[in-house]
Amino acid sequence: MTTDREAVVWTCIGMRPVKMGRVYVTERECRFTYTEDYLLTGLPGLGLIYPPEIVQTTTIVRQRTEFFDLLPPLQSLIPPRREKNFQRQLILSDLARRGIVPAAGFDADWEILKIAGHGGMGHLDFFENDREAIEWYSRPAELHLRPIPEGFGLSLKDFLTWFDTDSEALLRIIGPTPTIGGAIPKLLVSIPDTGWDGRIGFPRKIGTQGVTDAILKFEQTGTYPGIIELEGLALDLHEEAGFEVPRRWQTEIKGIPTLVIERFDRNAGGNPLFMETLYSIFACGDLSITHHYSGSYDAIGRAIDRSPIPLVLDRRAAKIHLLKRLLLSFATGNGDLHLENLSILSRDGTLAFSPVYDPTPMRAYSIHDMLAVMPFGNYGEVHFEEALVRFTRNLGFRKKELLRIIEEVLDVTRDYPERIEALKQLPGKNKKNLTGIVETLRNDLQEIR
Ligand SMILES: Nc1ncnc2c1ncn2[C@@H]1O[C@H](COP(=O)(O)OP(=O)(O)OP(=O)(O)O)[C@@H](O)[C@H]1O
Ligand SMILES: [Mg+2]
Repeated sequence: MTTDREAVVWTCIGMRPVKMGRVYVTERECRFTYTEDYLLTGLPGLGLIYPPEIVQTTTIVRQRTEFFDLLPPLQSLIPPRREKNFQRQLILSDLARRGIVPAAGFDADWEILKIAGHGGMGHLDFFENDREAIEWYSRPAELHLRPIPEGFGLSLKDFLTWFDTDSEALLRIIGPTPTIGGAIPKLLVSIPDTGWDGRIGFPRKIGTQGVTDAILKFEQTGTYPGIIELEGLALDLHEEAGFEVPRRWQTEIKGIPTLVIERFDRNAGGNPLFMETLYSIFACGDLSITHHYSGSYDAIGRAIDRSPIPLVLDRRAAKIHLLKRLLLSFATGNGDLHLENLSILSRDGTLAFSPVYDPTPMRAYSIHDMLAVMPFGNYGEVHFEEALVRFTRNLGFRKKELLRIIEEVLDVTRDYPERIEALKQLPGKNKKNLTGIVETLRNDLQEIR
């Protein structure tokens, strides 16, 4: 015996809050319908593959599976079901404090969404009903920036009392995204427009000037010692390679290495921009996508070229971006360029890959040491060089293009091994792992003629 569930989706993508549509979840299906008023706004919809101007008021219906209880853009708002997920744990313990102990699985997901499905990454805000939505938007975020207090120790309790406020208010600042709180706890905050100066505030809700939305990524030194400076170095390399990379600051909060990264899913005025991960986009269109590493890099290229609903404005530029990102991920020892680490962002009405995020050289840690999470050019059946050439051809480029990008990537990573050696927190054995891997890869790339 089950009861259908219902909820609503709102968005501030058009400067002020507006209801986008209604969600119903039955035992077997997830259903979503745009409201007529939303269609009149001409604004982007739930996801790229569900454009309001085509879908209109026809209900989008998807069978629930073990991988997706909800339409993928909504599923993306739920923190992953891993037991150690910080954000999940935080919300569940807050619920428990209020006497709500949902069954594990979708019951818990739904309760979490009701509390934390709004105010996070991207442009979708999920609420239990319209009343909750209106109430939430009408409570302006407190934008006072404060220095981080002395006793801030990053425990759950500290987080709950952090802004000297009730935990519900606090939950608003801990972002509900698929991966926020993935391996590393993160906090959504605002910082001064002029950059990090040690003070933080709540993230902006709706249009405010003077502050900038940012993410704090904290190091979990036990599992990934040195990861923050490593991510910092990888972001620098991507910028040097010509990619757009958000402003960022490396700092320490109570001795914990922390990366402060400006958010690119908000405009200067604080309004959300349309953003969707490739995972969500592909899962909407293809039921065989069940994990963030389903498919292949070749399939991403194919989708860029052939999707009946355009994923990007400039297809060639997007495919070059993909090829170069993959090559740089090899040369930096990343290995983890999966579908959730690639997103499409709409700026000034133009769809393109978002700025770079999460390019961390995970191969420095032996449990993550693999060349690539997804296949490319039948690598494995054919050797590295041949696979790269095939992948390049599948993207519709000549080998000459591959050689040109390899040249750029080798140039930008020229002194990478020395820069790894110069890191202060990464343990010696991780440095050795990573430099070894990188030297081998550089040699392999160099041999491609
Ligand atoms: N600067 C940014 N602006 C806007 N959105 C961002 C930014 N950085 C990350 N995101 C979004 O937040 C999500 C989580 O960030 P990120 O990938 O850096 O962390 P993570 O996946 O939890 O880290 P890890 O892979 O180590 O577990 C991303 O999938 C992306 O959608
Ligand atoms: Mg990630």
